[in-house]
Amino acid sequence: MAVTNEGVTNQTLNLPEELILMLLNEENGYFHQVPGWDLNCAVAGAVLAELSLLSRIDTDMDSLFLVDPTETGDPAMDPILKEIASESSQRSTQYWIERLAPSAESVIDLTLDRLVNLKILEYHDGEFWTLAHTGWQMELYGNSQEGTAGQFIKTRISRALFMNEIPDPRDIIVICLVNTCDVFRFIFQLDDESEARIQLICKMDVIGRSIADAVAHNLAGPLLRRSALTRKIPAVSVLKALLNPHVRTGNIPALFADLAQKYGPVFEIRLPFAKPMIFLASPRTNRWAHKRGRMYLRAKDYFADFEKVYGASGVMPSLDGGDHFRLRKAMSPAYSRRRLEGQLDQLYHYARNHMAHWTVGDTYPATTMCRLMINAQLSPLFISTDSQDIFDDLSKYKERALKVHILKVLPKFMLKTPAMKRRAKAVDTLLGRIQSVYTPAQRAGCPRTLADDWLNLHASDPQFVPETTLRFQLTAALIASVYLGDAFSFALYAMASQPELYAKIQSEADALFDSGDPNNENFTPSALDVTHRFLMECLRMYPIVPMSIRTMMNACMVEGYELPVGTNIYIAQTAPHYMKDVFPDPFTFDIDRYLPPRDEHHSPGYAPFGLGPHTCLGSRWMELQLAINVLMVAHYFTIEVSPENYKFRFDPLPSMKPSKKLKFHIAEQRRELHV
Ligand code: HEM
Repeated sequence: MAVTNEGVTNQTLNLPEELILMLLNEENGYFHQVPGWDLNCAVAGAVLAELSLLSRIDTDMDSLFLVDPTETGDPAMDPILKEIASESSQRSTQYWIERLAPSAESVIDLTLDRLVNLKILEYHDGEFWTLAHTGWQMELYGNSQEGTAGQFIKTRISRALFMNEIPDPRDIIVICLVNTCDVFRFIFQLDDESEARIQLICKMDVIGRSIADAVAHNLAGPLLRRSALTRKIPAVSVLKALLNPHVRTGNIPALFADLAQKYGPVFEIRLPFAKPMIFLASPRTNRWAHKRGRMYLRAKDYFADFEKVYGASGVMPSLDGGDHFRLRKAMSPAYSRRRLEGQLDQLYHYARNHMAHWTVGDTYPATTMCRLMINAQLSPLFISTDSQDIFDDLSKYKERALKVHILKVLPKFMLKTPAMKRRAKAVDTLLGRIQSVYTPAQRAGCPRTLADDWLNLHASDPQFVPETTLRFQLTAALIASVYLGDAFSFALYAMASQPELYAKIQSEADALFDSGDPNNENFTPSALDVTHRFLMECLRMYPIVPMSIRTMMNACMVEGYELPVGTNIYIAQTAPHYMKDVFPDPFTFDIDRYLPPRDEHHSPGYAPFGLGPHTCLGSRWMELQLAINVLMVAHYFTIEVSPENYKFRFDPLPSMKPSKKLKFHIAEQRRELHV
């Protein structure tokens, strides 16, 4: 089918692309899918059908044979054609579907990339795709029509199904494949007549039918094969894990990297009287969690007790599927880099005002100093409210709640101690402050904030974002100050303890700030060359969130092991940060890893912002704010690590931060702050 994007390009979509567009579900940003069938089989079928339409192969009821080995020029299909050409014996279509299905993932990736490049799909962080809203014009049956490409394909198919139009051979194949996947019922409202029509159309084309039959036969396979292939998940004794030297330094990623080296990428730790904990620790399991996890992993359960502490249910980190996608989409502008770029003047102002309290010669505890510096910016930018006086209470209460209800390393009563009850009141104090400034008259003419977005979403759909959710989301906005503040303290430690890098960052900072405050255009890759790679290396060696917890909601084979339904899965996404085959010499701070040709961060083993649908929504915001803070400290101050003989350790719970002993000494103020 020819597609024209307002004269920009003229392309023909192939069957895998049409199938992907047909299966795309705009409501959850992914595909219509039912557990138990494999998208890979359907896509492998679409590739074979396309090769058949291109006269490269032919099929009959018994076998699939090569007709012409000439490359098609399509990078997704040519490797498959080559594989078929190199097979000496003649095999059935079913055989080929089974053989090609495991590698169909790369076809899906290439197909999605191509559709994004063609501006037919839009990609969103977290592995979501939606139809692009560019005006598309399709030439079909001599008519020109407007719409998105996906809508258009669905319209064509619906005409064949509901208006008895004669479908073309490609549409018949798409109909056969979608029918085999049993997802028509999610795409259209079907009645008996249309069901009968689908069955009729599926019989119209021999290629489509033989391929769809082969796909259907393969679909039953994985479920039946699973138990025969399952290996026992290696168990790690708690004692052995605790005796690992990285436990002493609090280095959780290095601990899991070590365990993975000894036991493999999937292992289990059993604590007495607790549910078994299954850990995934490798670049390949990261890739699985990122790309495929949404079908198998649920976020809701691990978060439920924690959100209840705030009286909430169904906040962003605990939602799954379509609701989660809808909320993420609605809130993504509020967490975007663009939002921060529009407020750089305020950011500089708050940062300078805060640094004006630092005194040369004084020494400050690292985490408190850095968290307060970040909160001095995030609190007014997110919720137009000063919260410095209650920030310690808010963060200590939240950290205790995380230890009790997410990590479950403390008993429940530890959240009810008199000190914690007092700290809990800070949540209401903060909400009261937000309410007092978020009145229509006071907000008139103010730049839009995160709180505006949450309050507007609540007003427009109070069932979707009820007050209980608001209470959590508005106060939890400051959790970002903890994560970002701790990343900032790691960065200052790395800078102050490596004078050569400090000097290079200082010279980038001076070049940017010497002639006034930089604007967004000044933050070019070359202006931030060292600082950017330095921060990437900080996030590798000192990740804040070392792993994510999920519940297995559909059984699945991963790396040859069956992960049983209902178990708790700990995705140790940052374990590869300390694997020497992913990051050679992993304990060495080396910012050149990120230069071509090394590009070590291109591996799925680099995951400081998590994986899959819940990937950090604020990562771009965070990168800019962190870089600006490091640059401003370097521009205005010389800081030193204190005590001089400080031995680096992590305090890993509930999230990773430097140990309490780390302090920063303000050795010199390099220039006036002009607040
Ligand atoms: C160094 C700083 C940060 C790190 C390392 C970090 C890391 C992460 C990680 C690993 C997750 C996923 C958790 C999971 O899968 O269970 C996450 C989620 C999230 N982060 Fe960040 N984050 C940081 C800063 C920020 C900032 C500054 C913001 C706001 C501007 C932010 C907003 C979010 C949001 C909204 C989510 C939830 C996304 C969802 O559930 O769909 N983060 N973050």
